[in-house]
Amino acid sequence: MRSHEAAEWWRSAVIYQIYPRSFADGNGDGVGDLAGVRARLPYLARLGVDALWFSPWYASPQADAGYDVADYRAIDPVFGTLAEAEELIREAHALGIRIIVDVVPNHCSDRHVWFQQALAKGPDSPERELFWFRSGRGPGGDLPPNDWQSIFGGPAWTRTSDPDGAPGDWYLHLFAAEQPDLDWEHPRVRREFEDVLRFWLDRGADGVRIDSAALLTKDRALTDFDPEDPPYPHPYTDRDDVHDIYRSWRAIAESYPDKRVLIGEVWLPDAQRFANYLRPDELHTAFNFAFLGSPWQADELRRVIDETLTIHAPVGAPATWVLSNHDVPRHVTRYGRADTSFNLEFRQLGAPTDLTLGTRRARAAILLSLALPGSAYIYQGEELGLEEVEDLPDSVRQDPMFFRTAGANLGRDGCRVPLPWSGQEPPFGFSTTAGDPVKVEPWLPQPKAWKDLSVETQTGDPGSMLELYSAALALRRESEHLGDGPLTWLPAPDGVLAFARGAAGEGTDPSFVCVVNLSGGPVPLPVDGTIALCSGALESGMLPDDTAAWLVR
Ligand code: NOJ
Repeated sequence: MRSHEAAEWWRSAVIYQIYPRSFADGNGDGVGDLAGVRARLPYLARLGVDALWFSPWYASPQADAGYDVADYRAIDPVFGTLAEAEELIREAHALGIRIIVDVVPNHCSDRHVWFQQALAKGPDSPERELFWFRSGRGPGGDLPPNDWQSIFGGPAWTRTSDPDGAPGDWYLHLFAAEQPDLDWEHPRVRREFEDVLRFWLDRGADGVRIDSAALLTKDRALTDFDPEDPPYPHPYTDRDDVHDIYRSWRAIAESYPDKRVLIGEVWLPDAQRFANYLRPDELHTAFNFAFLGSPWQADELRRVIDETLTIHAPVGAPATWVLSNHDVPRHVTRYGRADTSFNLEFRQLGAPTDLTLGTRRARAAILLSLALPGSAYIYQGEELGLEEVEDLPDSVRQDPMFFRTAGANLGRDGCRVPLPWSGQEPPFGFSTTAGDPVKVEPWLPQPKAWKDLSVETQTGDPGSMLELYSAALALRRESEHLGDGPLTWLPAPDGVLAFARGAAGEGTDPSFVCVVNLSGGPVPLPVDGTIALCSGALESGMLPDDTAAWLVR
């Protein structure tokens, strides 16, 4: 049995992230929805992914594109209905595709019934104990309870009015004001989310992606701190008691007879602390943001790959390989910049980029990612080679990060532009009714040049990004060496990454080898073999710069 079909399917799975409002619109209103996804399931099956992760599809005022959840058990009407979600899960399963839902436990929407009740019942009510309500500092309580800043910019506290209209308590929100943080020491919060997990696992979800997984528990002292030099332990990031939550969630996942998985969104600079989340009784996997943030440089990539494998080995969890998601500039754009690295404080939005170079590197990067041990993520549209849309007019921007920084941070809208499916003009088949394209304005405007990147344009073109992804995924499925398993580095010139996949000992006589050239010039292939796939044509038998090859022998 090939690894992707194995019981521990997540160890080798290729998981495609669907950002529902931008994937495909099936009811012609310019916003993606579940009908659109259902119509495009054959596309995803042909692409060859093993699972779909849906960014939040729940009832939400969409203050943070659905990461502000008003009802964790309902589908937002803009996306469809619960019955459609259930149908979608069935249809995907029938195609052999698994489903992962996104659970957002750190905060809910300010429209969630719990928060509405907390506001209505007033200070000191038990309803307020589910959140972080505190009185303000200074005369009249006019100042926030502490100096914490929101991750989206501005203060992490917003003042409320009492039921009689007088200025009242403040509440904590690590993200937007519409996303009040929940108090995870309250047993009702714990029970509620355990129940939400069961709700979706009972409906056939094969796993959950856990939003902001390291932020849930907080230091009750709520003391001021300097974000440049935070105390240890940090007041709200990666506190030791957060692990109890995931132990109880793991027990719930394990209570299902088939394998259901927990996937953490854990952004932590300390690789060892990151690995703690992957201990055998906690999460199954977590996104590898160190790989995503690595500059396109052989030594740095090799360091990140080695560190990743080293920290995962003792906990027995598979590594993951991620190039892009809905929170970061698309990697075609990142890889075309002078500085190709990324971190949350260094987004470089608007820095000059060479998209031809970025695309060439992106082609090599996907062959690297899919050859590394473990599972891999694809963010919708990267298989089309879409770039970050950096010239969106301010008037169409929707990301709270943009508004809370008064435009200083352009935010994440540029990686969330609706996909181009077909045709010569926007909306490029994104919107349909009864399956036929309709001309409506998509919720964010698409670049005109995306006519050359549409699914229709790329399908069948052997030089296209889409066909490279399809071919790589097909080979990965067929190969017994790819996915979970050992990696052996092979001797290679400076600036070249070369490794074999397969059982120990096969390194000297490898049957699958990946070579990636980042050396600045063409290199001879370091091993003999038949080229199974190449991200760009060889030149006089040499592997050009920024090019990757898969060899079999
Ligand atoms: C991480 C999500 O990926 C991001 O999109 C969201 O804004 C924050 N968490 C808050 O939920």
